[in-house]
Amino acid sequence: VVPHYLVTGHTGFKGSWLSLLLKSRGHTVSGLALDPPIGGLFDRAGISFDMEHDLRVDVRDREEVIRAFKRVKPDFVIHMAAQALVREGYRDPLGTYETNVNGTLNILQASDQTDSITSQLIVTTDKVYRDSGGGRSYVESDPLGGNDPYSASKAAADIMAQEFLQNQRTKPGFVVRGGNVVGAGDVSRDRLIPDLLRSVSGGEPLIIRYPNAVRPWQHVLDCLEGYLSVLARADSRDPGGPAWNIGPSNQSIFSVQQVVEFAKKLRGFSALEVDVQPTHLAETDSLSIDSGRAQRAFGWENRLTRDRTLQMALTTVGRESEHGLRELVNSQIASFETDSTSAVT
Ligand SMILES: NC(=O)c1ccc[n+]([C@@H]2O[C@H](COP(=O)([O-])OP(=O)(O)OC[C@H]3O[C@@H](n4cnc5c(N)ncnc54)[C@H](O)[C@@H]3O)[C@@H](O)[C@H]2O)c1
Repeated sequence: VVPHYLVTGHTGFKGSWLSLLLKSRGHTVSGLALDPPIGGLFDRAGISFDMEHDLRVDVRDREEVIRAFKRVKPDFVIHMAAQALVREGYRDPLGTYETNVNGTLNILQASDQTDSITSQLIVTTDKVYRDSGGGRSYVESDPLGGNDPYSASKAAADIMAQEFLQNQRTKPGFVVRGGNVVGAGDVSRDRLIPDLLRSVSGGEPLIIRYPNAVRPWQHVLDCLEGYLSVLARADSRDPGGPAWNIGPSNQSIFSVQQVVEFAKKLRGFSALEVDVQPTHLAETDSLSIDSGRAQRAFGWENRLTRDRTLQMALTTVGRESEHGLRELVNSQIASFETDSTSAVT
């Protein structure tokens, strides 16, 4: 029998990639989310087309969520639906808490009530860790916190999911904590690579404020492969608890300026103009998480090098191309699945 996955948040960026990745592995995929963003990957890559069920359900609506689960009858649930933006969290804290906390509660309860489900994954973030300063990489047992509504709501969802899983008040499963990812089809604002692609296609200079800020870069496929490895290979009775870090590798660090220099060498980017407007505001140190537990327990590690990650994320197709983005994503998935030479050693 073909395994059936229910992905919540399948109309978003990670959800669209995950739907195509699962499909490419021969699985059946259903989704539950709000409408896709205009011009986003979901619509441009025609993802709805090969889903078993493509449902528009608000995770805050408990009865609707339970009804949807009973209709889909999945084997696995991957819960990614969230109000996922830090800035939107400040604008609408109530909506952010309702979606991220109550929404997750509804998913955990719906899983419990759906007989077909054998395992589930609750996606939180690296931002759940309490900022203890000092630039150390966080491990799963570190204290959680959150200095803004998005981070605090995700930390609350994370603690709640752990409680449900540990006390067996829902189906077995795991919590996964990842960081920012990059990949084709991301239309988010205020993120370097989408901003860079927009400035090239619009002929406008790219404004950068923190040229020396360094960030680890992880491709969305490395992150999703990590999530699926946890679901397939982690032991739900592991005394280390249900939470797993799935972060970028320590060797994947690049400054903003270096990303720009890297892009300029690629075909189509030579005309990129950059306007550096330094600001006095301090940029918070980018935090890092230690994913050694997943590496030790079942050998998961990022496969793509830093250069390959950026090169893949900067590959574009014309907006006019009907099938171009879907083909691009599928060809990147195919090369990710076969290209063991790209593994970071
Ligand atoms: N993208 C990243 O770099 C990143 C980093 C860390 C964690 N995450 C987490 O990964 C998950 C996916 O992130 P993304 O970047 O794809 O986000 P996204 O904003 O692109 O997608 C969010 C998805 O959630 C759905 N959603 C939002 N509110 C909903 C509601 N009330 N009911 C039903 N569905 C709702 C949207 O319709 C969409 O499908 C989120 O849980 C996010 O917190 C993302």
